[in-house]
Amino acid sequence: MARFFCFSLLILLVPLTSAFYINAKNSFILTSENFTQATTEHDYFVLFIEDPESHNKFLELWDEVGQVSQADDTSKHLKFGIVDCHKEEVLCQVNQIKNKIQLKFFGSHNNWKSVTSFLDSTIADVLREDELIQKFDQPGAKMFVLFKVIYCPYCKETMEEWVTVMDHFKNNPNIYVASIDCTRHRKHCDRFDALRYPRMRFIYNPPSSSQKVDKYEGDRSAADMIEFAQLSIKRYE
Ligand SMILES: *[C@@H]1O[C@H](CO)[C@@H](O)[C@H](O)[C@H]1NC(C)=O
Repeated sequence: MARFFCFSLLILLVPLTSAFYINAKNSFILTSENFTQATTEHDYFVLFIEDPESHNKFLELWDEVGQVSQADDTSKHLKFGIVDCHKEEVLCQVNQIKNKIQLKFFGSHNNWKSVTSFLDSTIADVLREDELIQKFDQPGAKMFVLFKVIYCPYCKETMEEWVTVMDHFKNNPNIYVASIDCTRHRKHCDRFDALRYPRMRFIYNPPSSSQKVDKYEGDRSAADMIEFAQLSIKRYE
């Protein structure tokens, strides 16, 4: 059942369309009025979502995942909730919601807590990846990108350093730092000539000339990558 749940949730990671979601059959809308009672009485997976209208597809799939709660006796006590952070600002603040879509588990089962935090960070990565893809063609955008695949051991090592790089630039409005999974986004990786992994590129879209791409050739250490990105930012000032 844990496996089914993970698998179903990974299917959520697909591009999303619009039109508002109404047809919840297996998941429950939670509001400030009934949130506390609901999450006290049952174990709840709650998806906090900032802009339900633009993530409709995501919500439909969430409702499908909610079918788990009808699957068998052990799953019956699990419920699937949705909080619309656009309407429920306070509720989302209290729960320290920082991402556009964030998953939390309310209940006492530690297994579910760890599965939830893994899925939540996967959702955050995917949202960031979608933003990155939009920036690839946005005039004026500067980005530092890690091209990776899940199964490569060097990518795993690099990801650990990359977290430091992302953290270093997180408040810098002049650069967007993100990674992209080349298994799912082959054509974008081909476009930037990332045929082996991991690969790092600094990409700049000048407003009125063609795209600049600086290839990173150094060590896979956070300090070196940060220095490289800083030089590129300067070069394109
Ligand atoms: C909470 O309230 C909303 C709005 O009234 C309602 O749509 C929803 O079904 C309620 N949820 C639960 C779990 O009762």
